Amino acid sequence: MLLNWTSDMTLSNRPLSDLTPTRDDKFSFGLWTVGYNGSDPFGGPTRPKLDVVDAVTNLAELGAYGLTFHDDDLFDFGSTDAARQSQIDRLKQSLADTGLVVPMVTTNLFSAPVFKDGGFTSNDRAVRRFALRKVLRNIDLAAELGAKTFVMWGGREGAEYDSAKDIRSALERYREAVNLLGDYVTDKGYDIRFAIEPKPNEPRGDILLPTVGHAMAFIETLERPEMVGVNPEVGHEQMAGLNFAAGIAQALYQGKLFHIDLNGQRGIKYDQDLVFGHGDLQNAFALVDLLENGGPNGGQTYTGPRHFDYKPSRTEDVAGVWTSAAANMRTYLLLKERAAAFRADPEVQAALAASKVPDLSNNTLAAGETYDDLLADRSSYEDFDTDAYFGGKGFGFVHLQQLALEHLLGAR
Ligand code: GCO
Ligand code: MN
Ligand code: MN
Repeated sequence: MLLNWTSDMTLSNRPLSDLTPTRDDKFSFGLWTVGYNGSDPFGGPTRPKLDVVDAVTNLAELGAYGLTFHDDDLFDFGSTDAARQSQIDRLKQSLADTGLVVPMVTTNLFSAPVFKDGGFTSNDRAVRRFALRKVLRNIDLAAELGAKTFVMWGGREGAEYDSAKDIRSALERYREAVNLLGDYVTDKGYDIRFAIEPKPNEPRGDILLPTVGHAMAFIETLERPEMVGVNPEVGHEQMAGLNFAAGIAQALYQGKLFHIDLNGQRGIKYDQDLVFGHGDLQNAFALVDLLENGGPNGGQTYTGPRHFDYKPSRTEDVAGVWTSAAANMRTYLLLKERAAAFRADPEVQAALAASKVPDLSNNTLAAGETYDDLLADRSSYEDFDTDAYFGGKGFGFVHLQQLALEHLLGAR
């Protein structure tokens, strides 16, 4: 039974615009998200296994446009070719029946015992070769299903012990793997790009390429850097105490935001994978504003799938799974609406100007100005009144942020 949000469930009596998700919103979910059965290191499942056809049917009904999956979400690790094919066929039929698409596919290189020291960067060469074969097979499937993005989350690519992993060799093997995959996709003529998903830790004590910044630096060392971007996840950056929206702004700035994992996280602790917005809500507001509208001074927006990588909490029953799935989309649309109101508010525009936010888009040097010209400009140094900044010339950032908060709360 699906839950329908109705107007009496809104947070205020103010009429809100229609917050029913449509395909144009490009909301997608991992099969492993709504399919999470509640099992954690301290207890077994609290819900039955979700069939892929039920996942597709329910997500389509809720207004999502896409389903993503790891190979092992769809068919068990070690499945016979016949069992694998039967699951692929069932998925294809349900996609045809509902119009849902598969925008992204990824490979599980972390659950099976063989991957206990990783896949691409296991110390065991035979495991590394097996991992490559598993991924190549899954890339063929991704292409067959029309997926345009292939995510690589290296959850087991890491270590607990500094003495146990030669990080430079591990990065070299990672590089070797991604270069090979780039060759393969290019030679096959597939329309697929790769997106590396950073995470600082969990399940490994430390994971390689732990943040968006590490991943983007690594990508520049590859043979085909243009084919590889990032798939940042809200909670993963926040687990490292980082500002997610700021990381996304840099990924957009560098043309590397190929995909995104939206969820919620409260502080530096285990990976909570909460519903989007059920963590740092102010940062979620800034994120949606950025994705939808670009920076305050313009710049690239994000046009790819709004992909939710959350886990319906272990406390929820089957109906609660779909309520939580709907909550992700509704929160996103609410924040999108609030961000539009924020931008349209003349008082916000005035506050942005008073805070000199637009001024940051002006070049620091005048057109054609050299360092000799700068050195000759007395107004920039000798005659510049630095004392005026003591007790004066405040930036008014707090007022601006309060306006953002009031829009976020629906108070304006
Ligand atoms: C996590 C990760 C995973 C990956 C997924 C894609 O929560 O630690 O986000 O969910 O996104 O495995 O490969
Ligand atoms: Mn996560
Ligand atoms: Mn993720």
